[in-house]
Amino acid sequence: MKKIAVLASGRGSNFQAILDSLAAGKINGECVALLTDNKNSYSIERAKNVGIPSIVHNFKDYPDKASFEADLLESMKKTGADLFVCAGYMRIIGPEIARTFAGKMLNIHPALLPAFPGLHAQKQALDYGVKIAGCTVHFVDEGLDSGPIIIQKAVPVFDDDDEDAIDARILEQEHIAYSEAIALFCDDRLVIEGRKVRVLPKV
Ligand code: GAR
Repeated sequence: MKKIAVLASGRGSNFQAILDSLAAGKINGECVALLTDNKNSYSIERAKNVGIPSIVHNFKDYPDKASFEADLLESMKKTGADLFVCAGYMRIIGPEIARTFAGKMLNIHPALLPAFPGLHAQKQALDYGVKIAGCTVHFVDEGLDSGPIIIQKAVPVFDDDDEDAIDARILEQEHIAYSEAIALFCDDRLVIEGRKVRVLPKV
């Protein structure tokens, strides 16, 4: 059974969806730690509710990103996790962490990558006028939201959508997509071939 550590910054609804999928036996793994850069993240409460340890490196208490990432890297190693899952983790992963955990770290992004990387992806999509939006689960590499894609889910954009409406529609799909991708990883069904991820058949 794979050990999973989750990185989250805010309300943690993706983290909760992952916890729910683990509890329902939909993922062959166990969550061993929550890592957060924000001491006020609601994900800490969610971890506490199910007895998972939280490791808090409050970004604002650090003099610079390098010292923050050095501590985070040490903590990540100590978890002994086989998989690191960025679930609403709102900082760019530095190159050393990305290299150390290459092929073992996932991210979810609220857009159909490679469109609209970076912050406020849903607003970027809405402002651009796309008719289809969605989410992407991908491996983390050294770029910004640029690693090999595992799963994407699409949703329609309607003329009278505001940011809240499109956020909610995408988020519902994020919760499904992330658990599916993590389950595939935990069943050793993901093979990275250059930019592409091949999904092996179920045995
Ligand atoms: C989610 O929509 C996630 O895709 C997004 O932040 C939200 C976190 O929600 N992540 C990013 O934009 C990362 N670039 P949550 O805290 O409820 O899971």
